[in-house]
Amino acid sequence: MADNKAPFYITTAIDYVNGAPHIGHAYEKILADVMARFKRLDGHDVMFLTGTDEHGQKVAKTAEANGKKPKEFCDEISQKFIAMGPQLNLSYDQFIRTTEERHYEASQAIWNAIKENNPDDIYLDKYEGWYSVRDEGYFTEDELTEGEDSDGNTIKLAPSGAPVEWVEEESYFFRLSAYGDKLLELYKNHPEFISPDSRRNEVVSFVKSGLQDISISRTNFDWGVPVPGDDKHVMYVWLDALTNYITGVGYPDTQHADYQKYWPADFHVVGKDIIRFHCVYWPAFLMAANLQLPKKIFAHGFINVNGQKMSKSVGNVIAPQDLIDTYGLDATRYLLMREVSHGQDGNFSHDYAVQRINSDLANGLGNLVQRTLSMIYKNCDGKIPTMGELTNEDQNLLAHAHTKLIPALRIDADDMKFNRGLETIWKLVIEANGYVDAQAPWGLKKTDPERMETVLYILAEIIRVLGIAVQFVVPTSANKILDQLKIDTNARDYSFINKDNMLQSGTEIDQPEGVFPRLETNEKAA
Ligand code: MSP
Repeated sequence: MADNKAPFYITTAIDYVNGAPHIGHAYEKILADVMARFKRLDGHDVMFLTGTDEHGQKVAKTAEANGKKPKEFCDEISQKFIAMGPQLNLSYDQFIRTTEERHYEASQAIWNAIKENNPDDIYLDKYEGWYSVRDEGYFTEDELTEGEDSDGNTIKLAPSGAPVEWVEEESYFFRLSAYGDKLLELYKNHPEFISPDSRRNEVVSFVKSGLQDISISRTNFDWGVPVPGDDKHVMYVWLDALTNYITGVGYPDTQHADYQKYWPADFHVVGKDIIRFHCVYWPAFLMAANLQLPKKIFAHGFINVNGQKMSKSVGNVIAPQDLIDTYGLDATRYLLMREVSHGQDGNFSHDYAVQRINSDLANGLGNLVQRTLSMIYKNCDGKIPTMGELTNEDQNLLAHAHTKLIPALRIDADDMKFNRGLETIWKLVIEANGYVDAQAPWGLKKTDPERMETVLYILAEIIRVLGIAVQFVVPTSANKILDQLKIDTNARDYSFINKDNMLQSGTEIDQPEGVFPRLETNEKAA
């Protein structure tokens, strides 16, 4: 493969460390991982960053409620998020914690860069207004609704349903009001900046309704990055958190090799609940600091459980490990990518999960691999057979695999439509299974052994292509398939999907082993 690979930088939201990870956090990290792996397989030089968001009032309060000092508490809980790496087979290049020294430096540097480039954009005043600790967000009166607390008292709620509290404190402000037109111009000139379109429309109407300056420092607690030159204040947690995306590539050293290579980021993958911070505040901060803007914010939907929002009070929160214990890791990854449509909410239900895993993995791809390799093992002396003359059906199937699959997959993957990408791949699985039935190679052993060899060779070649193609979603299982075909580990990226790299006839294979086990419906995770 060429050395001059195109860089690709992808990030996830960094998780608050106020509780243990659940399958919503896991979904987002897998989504970004799948994209990172896809791009690596497709010849890019990828930087994949994830991490934890450790400052702010929410984390400070939770630490206190647990009788811990904030840093001690963060050290403990961040381990659970770090553990998601091996647990979910995430291929990230870096895990950032906002309590790291390098991140303090970057956060203070972006503050100073805003002040240097646009001195009027930061000013000292007093904040009097509503604040939601759960969202770590400021809201205006007209955005709030009324609700009840657990004692039945009427309270005000943020759009997320989180309670708000009245805050009055000395604060530095960022002149967001000066950026409305610039942001609208950005959304207009770069419609790809926010995906999907429905989220862009939401952001555009928010900005069009008029932007107010935002408070970017807090004084009534101290768990945060000190404001440069005024350490009575800590930086607003979102300004600190968003900056992680440039800390990860070496900021403030803009000459850093990673910064030069990877910034601006290609993709910030975030949940739909935090688009205001990413699509309005973040580009405005970067413009003010005279830094380049990321290319795309992709907002995914939420994972619900049996049609309901996950919540501690409902008691339906599922930990990632629960799914892995029930279905296995690759099946869990497959399920989450297959069941959630582009940017939409996804629903998790056990019965549907079992049905999907059994039909696509065990009966679909798994059965194709198992029956093909078993026939080769038994009927071809355990060696990859030889291809003879080809029929039209043979040629069509090979052309589908060698020339149509990856270009179609690229279109789906480029906008994170992985549910569609998997459908694209499974069209080939279905076509290949149909081909097995139509060609009935088991009946050819006596009547036309040469033809049997051709059919089995073609099937093994299709399996090679499928094994390479699906690595981005089910890496361990895909590699087991490729191991069984004795494919060199250096010959497993998309540049090897073509007719010049077809299987070597005569290669000995071992006794085949099933890759995707069939699940029973009563093994229940939720
Ligand atoms: N700390 C901020 C993000 C800062 S990014 C500079 C935050 N943290 S969070 O822990 O509340 O959420 C982390 C990510 O998980 C967000 O993108 C959020 O949308 C996502 N999810 C939280 N619950 C979710 C589901 N139930 N389903 C899918 N994703 C969800 O926000």
